[in-house]
Amino acid sequence: MSLSASEKAAVLSMVGKIASQASDLGAEALTRLFLSFPQTKTYFTHFDLTSGSADIQTHGGKIMNALAGAANHLDNLAGNLSFLSDLHAYNLRVDPGNFALLSHVLQVVLASNFPGDFTPEVQAAWDKFLTTVSTVLTSKYR
Ligand code: HEM
Repeated sequence: MSLSASEKAAVLSMVGKIASQASDLGAEALTRLFLSFPQTKTYFTHFDLTSGSADIQTHGGKIMNALAGAANHLDNLAGNLSFLSDLHAYNLRVDPGNFALLSHVLQVVLASNFPGDFTPEVQAAWDKFLTTVSTVLTSKYR
């Protein structure tokens, strides 16, 4: 699945906003993930899952920064995400169905934090981007 030039621009339009508050946005995404889809907590039993915990803030920041990095490498997502692809497939073995759940809450977070910027067109581009990222991160399972 490849993104058109206008879709790439739409994805990139959110990157600066994300990078400036990565931990808070990522923590909100994880909090929504764990509340709406409690089964996802099984991968994070070693975390303090209390809302606002340092574990959630730190990990949320890692997720958002990884997405911002990927958005800056839209022509080489597989290369940019190679390390994370290995990690999720070989070490973590996260069930691939969970990626759609995280993609969903990420879009809710962007819509609620940036209602003026996250237009229907930008959201559609982000949906495609997150699907592509998820495909790469689940491509090495065997
Ligand atoms: C670790 C990104 C989806 C579970 C990580 C890390 C990043 C990341 C950046 C840290 C890697 C490091 O330590 O250097 C992403 C992205 C995703 C995604 C961009 C999709 C858009 C998921 C999903 C789950 C998951 C759906 C499970 C529901 C984990 C776990 C860790 C991890 C358990 C290890 C946490 C720790 O022990 O520190 N991920 N991830 N990830 N991810 Fe993901």
